[in-house]
Amino acid sequence: MKNKFYVLAATFSLLCASCAETQVNHSNSGKSVTPPLMGWSSWNAFRVDISEDIIKNQADLMVEKGLKDAGYLNVNIDDGFFNERDSNGNMQANTTRFPNGMKPVVDHIHSLGMKAGIYTDAGNNTCGSMADKDHAGVGAGIYGHEEQDAQLYFGDWGFDFIKIDYCGGSFLGLDEEERYTSIRKSIDKVNKDVSVNICRWAFPGTWAEKIANSWRISGDINAHWNSLKYVVGKNLYLSAYARNGHYNDMDMMVIGFRDSCKVGGEGLTPTEEEVHFGLWCIMSSPLLIGCNLATMPESSLQLVTNKELIALNQDPLGRQAYVVQHENEGYVLVKDIEQQRGNVRAVALYNPSDTICTFSVPFSTLEFGGNVKVRDLVKHNDLGTFSGTFEQTLPAHSGMFLRMEGETRLEPTLYEAEWAYLPLYNDLGKNSKGIVYSYDGQASGKMKVGFIGGQPENYAEWSEVYSEKGGRYNMTINYSFGKGRQLDLTVNDITTRINSLANDDNHHQITVPVELKPGYNVIRMCNSYNWAPDIDNFTLTKE
Ligand code: GAL
Repeated sequence: MKNKFYVLAATFSLLCASCAETQVNHSNSGKSVTPPLMGWSSWNAFRVDISEDIIKNQADLMVEKGLKDAGYLNVNIDDGFFNERDSNGNMQANTTRFPNGMKPVVDHIHSLGMKAGIYTDAGNNTCGSMADKDHAGVGAGIYGHEEQDAQLYFGDWGFDFIKIDYCGGSFLGLDEEERYTSIRKSIDKVNKDVSVNICRWAFPGTWAEKIANSWRISGDINAHWNSLKYVVGKNLYLSAYARNGHYNDMDMMVIGFRDSCKVGGEGLTPTEEEVHFGLWCIMSSPLLIGCNLATMPESSLQLVTNKELIALNQDPLGRQAYVVQHENEGYVLVKDIEQQRGNVRAVALYNPSDTICTFSVPFSTLEFGGNVKVRDLVKHNDLGTFSGTFEQTLPAHSGMFLRMEGETRLEPTLYEAEWAYLPLYNDLGKNSKGIVYSYDGQASGKMKVGFIGGQPENYAEWSEVYSEKGGRYNMTINYSFGKGRQLDLTVNDITTRINSLANDDNHHQITVPVELKPGYNVIRMCNSYNWAPDIDNFTLTKE
């Protein structure tokens, strides 16, 4: 075995100027972070047909139904509150819907001990002015009125949160990063604590972390299983971007609609609602209830006030669960809770398919050794102590949300490419480098990362490669598309250029010796001037 490394070593060269230079640790580092926002929002139930009475009444119901006590503190007014601007460009509240203006509504929400949210568009016109032909939304966007609107919304009216939509911005072909950055600056001049949500219906790019507490990653949800499946599908491989108190937003929930929902769909079954809520919790999406609280079925209310599930969402580590296994149609997701690299983890089994799905999950895949205590968080039920493998067969459109506590926590041996942080990744279709997480039937987990390289900033990073004691490891990189390419591998601050990739497009592996320090290590893969190969995963074995 050793000989192989000496041969390979001859094909490496140490690089000085490369992706290593700017290396900073992007992990949450185990510190407590601000958890995702929890509250209620007006759009799914009322669209633009909102009013002072409706909002105040829903706010009262938040208290009466125990939602405030369960942690739902935001009452967010979505599209539809405005009128045309006056001759000085000042935004007016809609005189029919909010005859007394917005201030009394905000005051009412605050008097109940909750926070008030408002809405705008980064361009001129709101989405409601287009989709719902709500004439009042024409010119109601913040474009050209940033400082004026920020002063009004956060200074004069006292709102605490804003969702910034993009129909107007998209119509004008504005640049997202430039627009949202500028809006944030105007808001900061009035109140730096305002929580911002970017509503661009796709992962906007890593710049969003500087601007917003959350960002939408998909088009609008509706109350239908396929819609839920689509939104979840958009977020399965974005866990690296939920960090430092900033989150991927899977949209306002469609729980509590047994018949038609204003945003479409015939409603979800109780089991589908469980999957919905469970996934929003374990994937750390903001939890915004979208139904009319006056008609919310009791079972839905029970579900969204499930303390054990909410604890996964509000967990102090602020992690989004990532896909650790994907076999047949099923997905297994996992994340640390309570303590980083402790013995407790939250696990979801998710069956999005239309038939039953059998799960067989080795506890070692979840980094557990010895016996593992398993608790069902939906049913509030201890399932017992297991070892070896966790087996379950789940019906169509269902999931299980579990708290597992292992006897020991194992050192990880596998790191999937789809868990990596890609600093240049966005889902706007505006990425000239094409960097992407994509399907690959031959890859482990059926996913790979492609189009990294070409410039030093276009790398894949795993910031929490853990070694208990540190030392020398054999790192095996599984890759494809090695033809004519090289890979710069950076381990902490040391970069090695791998010149000896297989000269074809097929799947191959290459093993290299690496030195890890005890605790967390940062590993990057890139190629500062040419494409790097597509990466499936890497494994680590102690020498
Ligand atoms: C959409 C947005 C929805 C809702 C709507 C209002 O663009 O994604 O969540 O806010 O606009 O018109």
